[in-house]
Amino acid sequence: MIPEMIAILDFGSQYCQLIARRVREHNVYSRICPADIKAEELSKLPVKGLILSGGPASVYGKNAPKCDERIFGLGVPILGICYGMQLGCKLLGAEVIAAERHEYGRTNLSILDKSDLFANMPDSTVVWASHGDQVGKLNEDFVKLAATQTCPFAAVRDRRRKFFGVQFHPEVAHTPKGPLILKNFLYDVCGCSGDWKMSDFVGETVESVRRQVGDATVICGLSGGVDSSVVASLVHKAVGDKLVCILVDNGLLRKNERENVVSTFRDHFHIDLRVVDWSEQFLAALNGVTDPQQKRKIIGAEFINAFKSEALKIPDAKFLAQGTLYPDVIESGSKPAVKPQAKYLAPRFTRGLAANIKLHHNVGGLPAELGFELIEPLRDLFKDEVRVVGEYLGLPEDIVWRHPFPGPGLAVRIIGEVTPQRLQILRAADEILIDEIKAAGLYRKVSQALAVLLPVSTVGVMGDERSYENVIAVRAVETSDFMTADFSHVPFEVLGIISNRIINEVRGVNRVVYDISSKPPATIEWE
Ligand code: XMP
Repeated sequence: MIPEMIAILDFGSQYCQLIARRVREHNVYSRICPADIKAEELSKLPVKGLILSGGPASVYGKNAPKCDERIFGLGVPILGICYGMQLGCKLLGAEVIAAERHEYGRTNLSILDKSDLFANMPDSTVVWASHGDQVGKLNEDFVKLAATQTCPFAAVRDRRRKFFGVQFHPEVAHTPKGPLILKNFLYDVCGCSGDWKMSDFVGETVESVRRQVGDATVICGLSGGVDSSVVASLVHKAVGDKLVCILVDNGLLRKNERENVVSTFRDHFHIDLRVVDWSEQFLAALNGVTDPQQKRKIIGAEFINAFKSEALKIPDAKFLAQGTLYPDVIESGSKPAVKPQAKYLAPRFTRGLAANIKLHHNVGGLPAELGFELIEPLRDLFKDEVRVVGEYLGLPEDIVWRHPFPGPGLAVRIIGEVTPQRLQILRAADEILIDEIKAAGLYRKVSQALAVLLPVSTVGVMGDERSYENVIAVRAVETSDFMTADFSHVPFEVLGIISNRIINEVRGVNRVVYDISSKPPATIEWE
């Protein structure tokens, strides 16, 4: 039972989930609701406050989304952000106009009233704005709280109806005082007590999975990555023996990966885990293929074959649990936050290892093919929140903090044809790289580290002999969302050890290079 919550009305903002997440960071449960949710619906929930999100429309646009006007009579505080502010102000009698100068990006906010929303704030602070329209004229119910150079009413309050509006985005990282503004709203204005914890998410999710599933069996594709591991243990908590996990060994996994997953889930968590060894089929299908997207397509198709072969053996299976995260939902197109890169236009299997299952049709193709209903308990979360859930569930640190590994595995880290011999070289190099990154205490600092086999031969000298062998490229990146990334400044000493060990211990490699490109324009994987 949720004691208190904030409802976020979604007007189509790409930041809606981010707002929800910021609220959660203040230990208050939040739920995203449709923009036009009825006041009666909201009054049945334990709402302590509402947030009206931003959105791309203009309040004067033909199909501009609206809210039920009666929400202003519910007696709970409402915070309108950007479009949400304009809509609220308009409905409460203020005037919204097209701004003379659009405001995009960082801007300076002068604070005029620090009595509630801006309590404990400095006189001026940087905020991030992105709007064309703005409030042009207030009526006597409103008080102006803050202004920017081009936006005289950058923040307002209608005390009588407890409505607050901010023209900028407190939820984004570029608004450094955003957390304080939201905290003021949640605690001082709405009177939230803040006793919701991420661990409560586990209880609520377990309950809802249980309700949804009943007595049926749930299948979960497990890869050993953090997303699918968290989903598997959450669902296991909910339905116990009714969960069957499937691990597809595509022959493209890292060294000992399959064994590690089996020992964690089968031996430690006592989850019914079935391993499908499909490596021969994968390698046969990849024989002679060099085009990266072709590789992905083949791997996607084989994955479905492998998965199906096992799934169809499981009686009563009605549900498929998937580790879709919020960024996957954005990427798969329901709300494109970022223009898809050319590489993604072809069938692309989403990020993270949970993606093993999402691959091919991203969010939802596989279940359609198999007639399953989908369970996506992590759909609203960001990766770091999934890690918190994983820690709470008692998953080993090694899984919770594991770097992402692509669904097509090492195949997209071998430039050109994938052969057993090349896989062997790359596996050995990858193991050394990860070992040394860990030994240097850098594994958590680096978001993803990988070795790439470049099957070009270069000349070297080993002993007194001339050698003519492959190159390994080492890549380590730092990123918060994997959509943009910078190369990690791994100390030269560490790179030296990595290079030395790879060249000395991996037969078939005589040169190691370090990738110093950022994304964009480069991507994280080389293919
Ligand atoms: P890129 O290379 O696109 O990678 O910058 C961004 C993140 O996505 C992962 N990635 C994939 N994950 N299937 C996956 O499941 C794929 O085909 C794939 N390609 C890239 C990559 O490892 C990084 O974390």
